[in-house]
Amino acid sequence: MRTPLIAANWKMNLGPEGGLALYREVRRRLQGVRGVEIVLCPPFVTLPALAAARPATRSNIALGAQDCHWASHGAYTGDVSAPMLRPLCEWVIIGHSERREGHGESDALIHKKLHAVLDAGLRPILCVGEGRAAREAGETASVIRGQLLDGLADLPAAQVREPLVVAYEPIWAIGSGQAASAVEANRVAGIIVRAALSDHYGEQIAAQVRVLYGGSVTPANIADFLRQPDIDGALVGGASLDAASFAALVKAAQ
Ligand code: PGA
Repeated sequence: MRTPLIAANWKMNLGPEGGLALYREVRRRLQGVRGVEIVLCPPFVTLPALAAARPATRSNIALGAQDCHWASHGAYTGDVSAPMLRPLCEWVIIGHSERREGHGESDALIHKKLHAVLDAGLRPILCVGEGRAAREAGETASVIRGQLLDGLADLPAAQVREPLVVAYEPIWAIGSGQAASAVEANRVAGIIVRAALSDHYGEQIAAQVRVLYGGSVTPANIADFLRQPDIDGALVGGASLDAASFAALVKAAQ
């Protein structure tokens, strides 16, 4: 009942020219693919080129940003707001661990960004995930529950029901070539993420929200994740930078 979603996080790779080339190649390989939502998240500066290259008719590839500011406009040097992104894309990644850690983003800040994304009519991919130390200390559940519930806080059920996607990305698995085991990722997606959503919003909404896994996903391991009942797709970094491997990931989810 939940449509699978495969999202590409290009991170700080590919400017307009390189991004357009990869987009065209991905589009060529995924022409006519249905039954899976596909989202490409290039750097801000690359979004306009991709948005302009999209066919006028409905494309099966949506676009997303990798972050946004919580305010709509103002004196925030170097930042980009959700309303500015609205004409260019449909999705925004919020709370990626590289922003939480590298930019000191707190759950309170992430909460404000979620508000901004939803108020602009965009859809958030909210990232949560524990670090290695927390995992080894047996704190995975409390860390993720905290990130999720402090991030969502007072957001009303009606606002998150349809648009919200959660990505479970254990920090130690990102870019390490060492993915979580599919069974363990499913356990977190189900009895931690979905259970927290259920406590907060009720069982029905918890069953509707899509939960992705992210962290060293490749064409070789994607099927294991997609086989899990509580995992609805993947947020992919490294393997999304190659058209053939990204297309293989999407086709595995078809
Ligand atoms: P990775 O990155 O696939 O390169 O591990 C995933 C992510 O950070 O979203």
